[in-house]
Amino acid sequence: MYTRIISTGTYLPEKVLTNDELEKIVNTSDDWIRSRTGIESRHIAADGEFTSHLAEKAAYKALEAAGLVPADIDLIVVGTCTPDRMFPNVACLLQERMGITGPAFSLEAACSGFVYALTVADQFLCSGKSKRALVIGAETMSRLIDWTDRETCVLFGDGAGAVILEASDKPGLLYSDLGADGQHRKLLYTETGLSNMESSVEGHLKMKGNEVFKVAVRTLESMVDKVLLENNLNKGQIDWLVPHQANLRIISATAKRLGLPMDRVVVTVNKHGNTSAASIPMALDTAVRDGRIKRGNLILLEAFGGGFTWGACLLRY
Ligand code: ACO
Repeated sequence: MYTRIISTGTYLPEKVLTNDELEKIVNTSDDWIRSRTGIESRHIAADGEFTSHLAEKAAYKALEAAGLVPADIDLIVVGTCTPDRMFPNVACLLQERMGITGPAFSLEAACSGFVYALTVADQFLCSGKSKRALVIGAETMSRLIDWTDRETCVLFGDGAGAVILEASDKPGLLYSDLGADGQHRKLLYTETGLSNMESSVEGHLKMKGNEVFKVAVRTLESMVDKVLLENNLNKGQIDWLVPHQANLRIISATAKRLGLPMDRVVVTVNKHGNTSAASIPMALDTAVRDGRIKRGNLILLEAFGGGFTWGACLLRY
């Protein structure tokens, strides 16, 4: 038994925050942000708009694209590090609102949340436990950000992306590889959590950006070398790279290692910044809907994020 992605969907909150507007909030400039990251703007969830709301809208777009209804789904897996609350988890909130039965859970692997979620859903489908999964990456990173910290607030944004993954007798998802290494935990973390709560601390995201950058590039380069080796692929043989959208310079370094020109790399970071687990399904959806990614294309999804966690999925679309 194999699995294949049959449709995709995206939702971005209406409010757009441009680099020019950020210049009025912190001591930064459009030029600095663009040249270091490639980001031009990001979307910010409205008051009362939570991760589950974004996820639900992306899920309906994916269902509509497949011509399916919620009752056709029997598994929901959501990758998120910004859930509405600890429980019910975001997937259960969707299950109740959309009227879906079957297992529903969220997992947290920061920016790698979607590749982790896709890999886990694939296991459920391949084992025959489920037939059709809604796999979502959804985040409201704006709620984790210290809006006085220019080193982080310019980088992140909110959004959600969804795919429908279906059991199939033909291969779609060909290979996946996940990794993690907790030893760099002081480079990227949140100050508090629910069982580690200090009333004097607000719980914001903290990051040593330039050090994260170096580990991210190094780790992604060795991961893509492994993907090529283990799948008997030569450089340049992948049709499309759909990377986690954190920083254009990290994306370019990975593309170079894969022997791919930038016109075979899906880049959306300019429009929404780093949306953590949401970025890969949103980028995939963008390139599917604008016709760049076609059925039969060989696609590599790759991510690196807090934990550190990382992962890659190779698929025949
Ligand atoms: N505006 C203007 N200046 C700034 C800003 C800002 N928003 N932020 C930092 N600076 C200043 C710094 O204070 C520093 O000034 P100094 O030289 O006077 O000390 C200078 O810019 C350079 O700072 P660096 O941190 O060395 O800049 P760098 O070129 O490394 O770019 C960045 C910073 C964009 C954060 C980069 O390191 C990066 O993208 N890292 C990866 C982080 C990331 O994406 N994390 C997300 C999770 S992991 C992942 O998804 C890959």
